[in-house]
Amino acid sequence: KTIYYKDYLPSDYTVVNCSLEFIIEESSTRVENIMEIRRQNPSAKELRLDGEKLDLELIWVNDVLLDETMYTKEENALLIPLDTDEARIRIINRIYPDENTELEGLYRSGGIWCTQNEPEGFRRITYFIDRPDVMTKFTTKIIASKERCPVLLSNGNLRGTATLDNGKHLALWEDPIPKPSYLFALVAGDLGSITDTFTTMSGKKVDLAIYCDRGNEDKCHHAMRSLKKSMEWDEYTYGREYDLEIYNIVAVDSFNMGAMENKGLNIFNSHYVLADEDTATDADFMGIESVIAHEYFHNWTGNRITCRNWFELTLKEGLTVFRDQCFSADMNSELTQRLDDVRALRERQFVEDAGPTAHPIKPDHYMEINNFYTATVYEKGAEVIRMMYTVLGREKFREATDSYFEWYDGKAVGTEEFLKAMQSQSPVDLSQFKRWYSQERTPVLNVSSQYRPESAELVLKINQIIPNNTKNHEQLPYAMPFRIALLAEDGSEYPLKSDDVTLVHRDVVWLEKSVHEIVFKDISSAPRLSLNRGFSAPVIIECDELDYPFLMANDRDGFVRYEAAHQFGIETLEAMMNGAEVNEHYIESYGAILCDGSIEAMFKSQILELPTLTTLMQRQAVIDVDVIFNAHEKLKQVLARRYFSEMLSMLEGLYNPSNAHIDGVSMGKRALKNRLLGLLMSAGDESVNALCLSHYHESLSMSERLTALDLLENYAPDLASGALDDFYRRYQDQTLVMNKYFAVCASSRREGTMERVAALQENSAYDVKVPNLVRSLIGSFARNPVAFYHRSGTGFRFVAEKVIEIDAINPQIASGLAGAFKNYPKLSHEQKAQMGIELERIKNHPDLSNNVYEIVSKILEAS
Ligand code: ARG
Ligand code: ZN
Repeated sequence: KTIYYKDYLPSDYTVVNCSLEFIIEESSTRVENIMEIRRQNPSAKELRLDGEKLDLELIWVNDVLLDETMYTKEENALLIPLDTDEARIRIINRIYPDENTELEGLYRSGGIWCTQNEPEGFRRITYFIDRPDVMTKFTTKIIASKERCPVLLSNGNLRGTATLDNGKHLALWEDPIPKPSYLFALVAGDLGSITDTFTTMSGKKVDLAIYCDRGNEDKCHHAMRSLKKSMEWDEYTYGREYDLEIYNIVAVDSFNMGAMENKGLNIFNSHYVLADEDTATDADFMGIESVIAHEYFHNWTGNRITCRNWFELTLKEGLTVFRDQCFSADMNSELTQRLDDVRALRERQFVEDAGPTAHPIKPDHYMEINNFYTATVYEKGAEVIRMMYTVLGREKFREATDSYFEWYDGKAVGTEEFLKAMQSQSPVDLSQFKRWYSQERTPVLNVSSQYRPESAELVLKINQIIPNNTKNHEQLPYAMPFRIALLAEDGSEYPLKSDDVTLVHRDVVWLEKSVHEIVFKDISSAPRLSLNRGFSAPVIIECDELDYPFLMANDRDGFVRYEAAHQFGIETLEAMMNGAEVNEHYIESYGAILCDGSIEAMFKSQILELPTLTTLMQRQAVIDVDVIFNAHEKLKQVLARRYFSEMLSMLEGLYNPSNAHIDGVSMGKRALKNRLLGLLMSAGDESVNALCLSHYHESLSMSERLTALDLLENYAPDLASGALDDFYRRYQDQTLVMNKYFAVCASSRREGTMERVAALQENSAYDVKVPNLVRSLIGSFARNPVAFYHRSGTGFRFVAEKVIEIDAINPQIASGLAGAFKNYPKLSHEQKAQMGIELERIKNHPDLSNNVYEIVSKILEAS
């Protein structure tokens, strides 16, 4: 069944107060739910409560116990006749957290009871009007064994505790701020913790705590530091202060996503909390900082101001991703952060937007809302916010967000309301800009220029190519900020002067038309084009006039420098894929960057990354992984052989076994070191293999150790098995590190990877019920193009079997995995036939979830 945006109606009734009591026992949990209901639609006669997989015991309306003739029970709802403006409903029901493998609602992770209610999990805890525009004040009483569950947590402030008979105890929590049910949370178990405090800008003290499995407390300090930095940043940058006395974070091992912003009680995938130098990579540390910030920032963008319905998801997610990206940029390096974000956007979101599951950041229909927590809603959503930030500028953007918080605090709103606040400060009309919310696929800007020496003018012609949507309907041109420069010979920038276009800033052109011809005046000689600086608009640029070597060496915009190298790499590789020799100019430009001592290490490592297999696959009309893979390996070899001694001596200079610090400079050095080692290993040289092995053993940081392990696996099989055994022995009891082990094995480009992955499912460290492990082993395999697209077709078959198997356990994880098939329309005849059989097999499987059905049917329809 499909749900449409246009069918949205406000709720007939609302829940003003909800008082919950949980009695947690080993085999089940009893829930008592007392709701104060208020009628909002005077003509409503029947109250409809959502409820799934609940054992209903008793219902009272205004203290009258109902018998079964007085209400209707449907599979996922309870209908109660109700013709009063106010009522008190009391419900008792029972739930079974141990049987909850979908990890939605109340479930058990390890020994810990925890919840995940966004988007529609609360209806699996008790009957409720489970929609985000119903905002309720919650009070929660939790009763459980004191020995089993010394820690009892819920949202808001702790109002009291008591010891009861039979070894039980209780805790009473009260959240003074009305919230939608998706932000409700409960945690009970035997947990360790670290604590700290934060004093807000108005001088209120907040108690902070991070809870985790006992024994892991020492791994929570980075998360705690990140939390305090986030709280400070949101005060300074947006004037947003925290509003409760307590802020708790709990780390659990089984979690469908990264983390969840429940009011005052965030629940996290332990991957985004726990870290120390021995077990976490630099990327893990950065990921923790950003996800801790993301969930904290939701307190204002998501919780205080929430979404009217789930079609508006990007209202909170796009905005909060934008905020966490800016935070990470401020904490670390703005350029590094931007390049990482753009790379992630293009690798994941552009791919999604080009395929069968493309959707606007604000979708207008869905079958399963869980399928829309996507790179599009999140990351493209953040780019759309960023474009407005670029147009308004920092100060006006802050004024606009001040208005947003002032006007809509305590309300459930939509992107229209956000846009209204933006428009109030915008130098340009945003009506056309709104198309970014309702259209799908990635636009292309085709750019060309003509220099007129006689009048000292440069004519820039920009043509928007707007792809049709997934239903093959035409779409309209966008409005967007396009940051550009015209560069003189020495890299300096001509001031932009033109009567043909609005300049929203000195260097930002406001594009609105499908074709622009812009004449820039006072350009004394033919300039070089520097386009889409900072990636100001999330588009694909087509321009055959770009001078890559010049831009790589001279552009002052770090993104354009990076992009020139990236595009030059693509051009070089694609020529090789068509049989050409390696482009000597590329090798020289690459060497110039490599040997430029003035370039900071992290940026250098980013520029020196070759375009990925995914990037190149994306550009092929018919996907042929082998041809890409061979060209890629060949180019690495040529580079490694040409610059062998330079790379080796640079590598030595960067290598310092005692350096395991988590700061930007050390991370940059490690990233560059890993990049160089990766290139060198492709040369197939015995001495480099031995060096890699010694780095595996001697490095003190996980980033270096893991890269060395991965390189040995791919390039030095005879040395790899010993290193893999060593790694396994050392970390087999640490599930977060075992994720990395499984990922290295499943990402291997060697023959036989599928058989190894299949065998690893039997490993005692693996558990199909833990999403992180499934993503590491099966997910990494499905993202390994060399193994997944293997000519035999066995990769497709294996993943299809896993989708079916996992769907019976956890549909959200299964549908994520099913996304691996989204290149179906672009396969060769032969591979398409192989994959088609597997897709049909999944689609025809009895009892398939909505989640997987929606994804697979979209993929099959697309071709
Ligand atoms: N709101 C969470 C976040 O982005 C994600 C929760 C998604 N949950 C889900 N079941 N899809 O921070
Ligand atoms: Zn979020």
